[in-house]
Amino acid sequence: METKRKPLLIGNWKMNPRTQSEAKELFLAVKKGLRRTPGAAVVCAVPSVFLAPLRAHASPTCMLGAQDVSSEKLGAHTGDISILMLEALGTSHAIIGHSERRASGETDEAVAKKLSLVVRSNVTAVLCVGERERDSSGRYLSFVENQIRSALKGVPPGKLARLAIAYEPIWAISTATPNARAATPEDAHEMILFVRKILTDLFGRAAALRVPILYGGSVDQKNIAGLVAGGGSDGYLVGGASLRAQDFSTIIRTVYAR
Ligand code: PGA
Repeated sequence: METKRKPLLIGNWKMNPRTQSEAKELFLAVKKGLRRTPGAAVVCAVPSVFLAPLRAHASPTCMLGAQDVSSEKLGAHTGDISILMLEALGTSHAIIGHSERRASGETDEAVAKKLSLVVRSNVTAVLCVGERERDSSGRYLSFVENQIRSALKGVPPGKLARLAIAYEPIWAISTATPNARAATPEDAHEMILFVRKILTDLFGRAAALRVPILYGGSVDQKNIAGLVAGGGSDGYLVGGASLRAQDFSTIIRTVYAR
């Protein structure tokens, strides 16, 4: 890690679990696991239908996040969830531009619009970027750079406190790629530095240093120690392993032990 800021650890539950009672059970188990690591905080990005019922169980250290948000504020947008609704529910973070949403048609323009709305709210945006594959000529770097520059078009420097970026290479996401493996700490670190450089170009070094940059993709209880030691990120976006309260608890402990 380049600077000493509190780690940002987010569990992305994706479209799990099936029922409200299972969601409550998992959330409470995560909360219980947190007790083993005093001072730790996590965000569970849950399916939006669980935000209201879990709200009573959320706390400043066990927060609730959303997995997406509408690019519009209110009105005739069937099926969408507004940032105003997320704010009203006390949602702390909203994932934007996850590769699974992009794969179902979300464009860079839509991502930029969502981001511009969220950074102006009380919810922190977690912008996801990441390449499908790595090539030896380094095209993946310009791909990620374009994703970031295009997404941040509507984000003024004064709103950066509401921004985090998650580098999630699609080839490393367990649910996207069969036999996916996490990026090596070296590969993750290279990209974290690269993302920081893009932010520095856009907003200046001091501002860029304040934006948490996370790594995501097959993070689990086994590889987390290596990522913490050498990955250089300010936190992690954890999919599959965040559904296993015990493994997530191990991840939390390892992240905070550094
Ligand atoms: P994974 O998912 O940890 O299961 O690879 C990460 C994500 O898609 O956010």
